[in-house]
Amino acid sequence: MTSTTTFNRRDWLRKASLAGAGLLAAPSIVLNAAPGLLPRHAAVREILPSLEWEKAYYAERPKLKARLLANENPWGPSPKARLAIMDAAKTGNRYQHEAADNLRKMIAEFEGVSEDHILLAPGSSDVLEKMAIMHFMDGGNLVAADPAYMSLIKTAMAMKADWKKVRLTDTWAHDLEGMAKAVDKDTKMVYICNPNNPTGTLTDSDDIRAFIRKVATNETTVFVDEAYLEFLPDYKSKSMVSMIKEGKNVVVARTFSKVHGMAGLRIGYGVMLPEMLEKVNTIWRGYMSLCKTSLMGAMASLEDTEFQKMSVKGTADARAQTMAGLTRLGFKPVPSHTSFMIFPISMKGKPFLDAMFAKGIGVRAFDIFGDDYCRVSMGKPEEMEMFLAALEEVLV
Ligand SMILES: Cc1ncc(COP(=O)(O)O)c(C=O)c1O
Repeated sequence: MTSTTTFNRRDWLRKASLAGAGLLAAPSIVLNAAPGLLPRHAAVREILPSLEWEKAYYAERPKLKARLLANENPWGPSPKARLAIMDAAKTGNRYQHEAADNLRKMIAEFEGVSEDHILLAPGSSDVLEKMAIMHFMDGGNLVAADPAYMSLIKTAMAMKADWKKVRLTDTWAHDLEGMAKAVDKDTKMVYICNPNNPTGTLTDSDDIRAFIRKVATNETTVFVDEAYLEFLPDYKSKSMVSMIKEGKNVVVARTFSKVHGMAGLRIGYGVMLPEMLEKVNTIWRGYMSLCKTSLMGAMASLEDTEFQKMSVKGTADARAQTMAGLTRLGFKPVPSHTSFMIFPISMKGKPFLDAMFAKGIGVRAFDIFGDDYCRVSMGKPEEMEMFLAALEEVLV
């Protein structure tokens, strides 16, 4: 063990014991808190701005032993999707409208709505982005949690929207009461990511339904990002598509990137009221942004329920393995409902990332309310072992 790691361990223990004695100021509250509790100061900041992160990621990629930094699914795509994709390549000279129609029908049936509720997109990112553009063309404000997944928020702010931040609660759930209070006459949209990224935590679906009944109006859309919902048991009962069926102005975004393991194939969708879809169609490329191989792959993957079950179980097993490993090493991971997990670290994000990347382990780092956190994506068992071993060398 090097002197740096010895120092780190000492520093960690020192911080932990000081925090235990209540002697440290706010930034270390997290070390003193019960597992999963949210420290109450400042705001979220990702350690490497996205471009830098991408550079680091691509530069190091050939050398990475474990890619645990983008919440990718290590098992996908499903074998049936792979075959469908290869087959679809043969007709890549033709436009893909028929395939898009077919996937749209299939999704509509799967969600229990008519086709005029379904917007297909090259990844749910596209739904987030287009909705932000559409809602904030004339300004207004966006009510969203802090910390939250930043994609939609960034586009909204680029459109000059005001982001009215509402801190997550002490258990890292959305503060729906606080969010309802933040809504005013200029609120064009409320963004809820459930389960939330980067925290991996859940907000009760009945509470979100009650919130929607109170807040969603013609003037204020409630956007619910359900990228990770499928990792939950009985997830359909927790989806806010039920609210759209009640006629509420809600947009739900879903993706094939996570449980289906098709992140690089770029396919996702939005569910919304037909009136909203009509508005989107005024600024949209429609089917022209979609790719035949991805459409055919998505259809095959939707039918491959065995693969989906394996992927959900593999992720749950990886969570249990990671939780146990991190706890054994003395960390306090935040219990996660997703394919990633965060935990506080006793080192600044940048040197931590450098040290982990140097060992071939790709993870992410966040500064959340002034404290440093690692976010690790769930991978195969051997990848999680390599991650834990590297972490022990770097931090323990
Ligand atoms: C919460 C959340 N929403 C949306 C996305 C975008 O996913 P995609 O564009 O691949 O569908 C991600 C990706 O990590 C995410 O974490």
